[in-house]
Amino acid sequence: MQQWDVIIIGAGAAGLMCAIEAGKRGRKVLVLDNGKRVGRKILMSGGGRCNFTNMYTSPENFLSQNKHFCKSALSRYTQWDFLALVQKHNVPYHEKTLGQLFCDDSAKDIVQMLMTEAKAAGVQIATQQHIQHVIQASTSSGTGTENENETETNGKADYKAGYIVKTPELSRHCHSLVVASGGLSLPNLGATAFGFQLAEQFGLNVLPLRAALVPVTWQPADKAIFEEISGVSLPVTVEANGTVFPEDMLFTHRGLSGPAILQISSYWQPGDDITVNMSPQTDISEFLTTQQQAHPEQELKTALSKLLPKRLVEKLLEMQVITNQPLKALNNKSMQNIANSLHGYIFKPNGTEGYRTAEVTIGGVDTNELSSKTMAAKQHDNLYFIGEVVDVTGWLGGYNFQWAWASGWVAGQYC
Ligand code: FDA
Repeated sequence: MQQWDVIIIGAGAAGLMCAIEAGKRGRKVLVLDNGKRVGRKILMSGGGRCNFTNMYTSPENFLSQNKHFCKSALSRYTQWDFLALVQKHNVPYHEKTLGQLFCDDSAKDIVQMLMTEAKAAGVQIATQQHIQHVIQASTSSGTGTENENETETNGKADYKAGYIVKTPELSRHCHSLVVASGGLSLPNLGATAFGFQLAEQFGLNVLPLRAALVPVTWQPADKAIFEEISGVSLPVTVEANGTVFPEDMLFTHRGLSGPAILQISSYWQPGDDITVNMSPQTDISEFLTTQQQAHPEQELKTALSKLLPKRLVEKLLEMQVITNQPLKALNNKSMQNIANSLHGYIFKPNGTEGYRTAEVTIGGVDTNELSSKTMAAKQHDNLYFIGEVVDVTGWLGGYNFQWAWASGWVAGQYC
C-alpha cells in the first residue's frame, strides 16, 4: 500500500492551495482528482479570466449558518496574501469593478502559478482517479472504519492512525485526509456529491444544499411576455428577504440573470418574490414632473424611454403596468403610482436554472462540525474539509475563490 502524509481529494482552488502549504512544511502530499485536468473551474471562471479575489473581502460577503466561522481563515490568509502570490509570479491583473481582481490575459495564469508552487513544494498530483471509497484505518469497528491497516507487532495489534483511499488500481494510506471536492455546480465539469457523502459517512452533519449565484426562471405567464425582450439589461437594485444588491439585471429567454440576479439568488428561496427597482438612481415621480413641465405634449412612453430601455417600456405598456398618454394628462397621484410600480416591480420566479449553470452550492458540511482554526473535523482526527464543500458561500465577485484559498491555506498549516 502506498503511504502518504497527506492525501487531498480535489485539485481545485482549495485543494491546490492546501497541497502547496502542506508540501512547504515537508509533508509528502498527493492530490487526487477525478478530472483529466486540474483547476477546471479556475480555468472557466470569470469568463476565462478568473476573478481570483476581491480587494474588499470581509466576512460580511459570505453566507453560512454560522456567520463567524469564516472569520479566522479569512483573517489569516487575506486577499492581499493571494495578491502577493499573483504579483510574485508576475501574473498581469486588473480591477474590473467593485474590487474584483481579474487576470488580464487568462485564468490559465492562475493554474500555472499554482502548479509551479505545487511542484516547488514537492506535491504529487494524480488525475482521472475514481475513488471507490475511503475508510478510517485507526479503529477496528464502527461506520466508515476498517482495521485493514492493522499490523502485528510482537503479537499485539498496532493500529496506524489515518485513512485509506481506494481506487480500482490502488489502496493508499495517509495520515491526514483533506476533502476539497467542491460543490455540485456544473456536473459536466466533474462536480460530484463525493465530499458531502464522505462527511455523512463519517457522521458529520451536512446542511441542505441548493444552487446559488444562478439565474432565476420565469413563471409560464411571465415567460410568454418577457422572453421577447431577451438581451435587454439595465442597472437596478434587487431585493429578496431583506437583502438588497445594486447591479445590472438581464432579461433572458429563460428568466432573469445578470450580476444583480445572481447575487440575490443566494438569498432567494422557492416561493419568494424578488422586488426590482428599475430606476435606482432617479426618482421617477420627480423625473416625470420635470418632464411634464418641460414637454407637456410628450408621451409617457417617450419620457420613460429616457430612463429605461425602450423595449422594456413597450412591454410595460403591453402588460398595462403603465398606460400611454401625454404627460400633461398625468396628475401627481398617477405619477406617484407609475413611480411606485417601477421602483418596486415584483417578479415571482418559478425556480432557478439549478446546478447546470450555478456558480456555487449553498449549504454543505456544517461548520459546527469543524474547527475554524484548522478546518479539521472535531470528531475525527486528521480529517479536514475545505473550500466549497463547507457551508461557507461567497457573493459574486471573487469571494468564493478567496474562501477556497484561505480555507486551503489554513488546513495546509496543520494537515
Ligand atoms: P473546485 O470545484 O474548484 O474543485 C473541486 C475539485 O474536486 C474539482 O477539480 C473536481 O473535479 C474534484 N472532484 C469532485 N469530485 C471528486 C471525486 N469524487 N473524486 C476526485 N475528485 C473530485 N468564484 C470566484 O471567486 N470568482 C470567479 O470568477 C468565479 N467564477 C466561476 C465561474 C463558474 C462557471 C463557476 C461554476 C464557478 C465560479 N466561481 C467563481 C466559484 C468557484 O469556482 C468555486 O467556488 C471554487 O472553485 C471552489 O473551489 P474548491 O476547490 O472548493 O472546488
